[in-house]
Amino acid sequence: MDYKITKTVFGEKPEYKLPKPIFLEEMKEEGLIKLFDKFYDLVSDSDIGNFFPQDEEELEKVKAHNVKFFIEACGGEKHYSKTVGHFDMIKAHEPFSITEKARTEWLGCMEEILKEFDISDEAKISFWEYLETFSKHTVNVNTGLKLPEDIVKV
Ligand code: HEM
Repeated sequence: MDYKITKTVFGEKPEYKLPKPIFLEEMKEEGLIKLFDKFYDLVSDSDIGNFFPQDEEELEKVKAHNVKFFIEACGGEKHYSKTVGHFDMIKAHEPFSITEKARTEWLGCMEEILKEFDISDEAKISFWEYLETFSKHTVNVNTGLKLPEDIVKV
């Protein structure tokens, strides 16, 4: 499958679709717990590792918090709403300076971990599309950097 990443248009908060029920059906809660356990280990060791706690115990707390959110987003038990409450994607990420490059790194870590899971392409694509689109909401720093293909020669 193609783990496609499209560029964020700074300031735009595109509409996104929640993952299809098939993703949670195939992964089960246990699968999601494993996925986010591995994901946060990788992301905390990546180029954007500075955003995340380096302390083992604190990182475990982040994993626990986040997996609740993702189980709910995937159509499972409302663990997050029940214990934490309403989630605001923009506010939750405001304390961190997230550039498009940081988003790409985050998604790259997710791609690496998702590849380890033997589930159907339909399930994976549906989860990937959700993350790829919704992650655009976290980008809150406009570096103004252009890619070579954006530069029009005169
Ligand atoms: C679809 C994509 C994403 C979703 C759904 C998501 C969701 C979340 C959630 C639910 C939390 C926890 C909020 C709480 O404590 O209650 C969180 C925290 C966080 N997220 Fe994201 N996030 C996404 C993408 C990103 C990206 C792209 C980055 C950075 C490049 C990022 C960086 C962080 C950081 C640094 C935290 C705080 C960790 C801590 O508690 O120390 N997230 N995110």
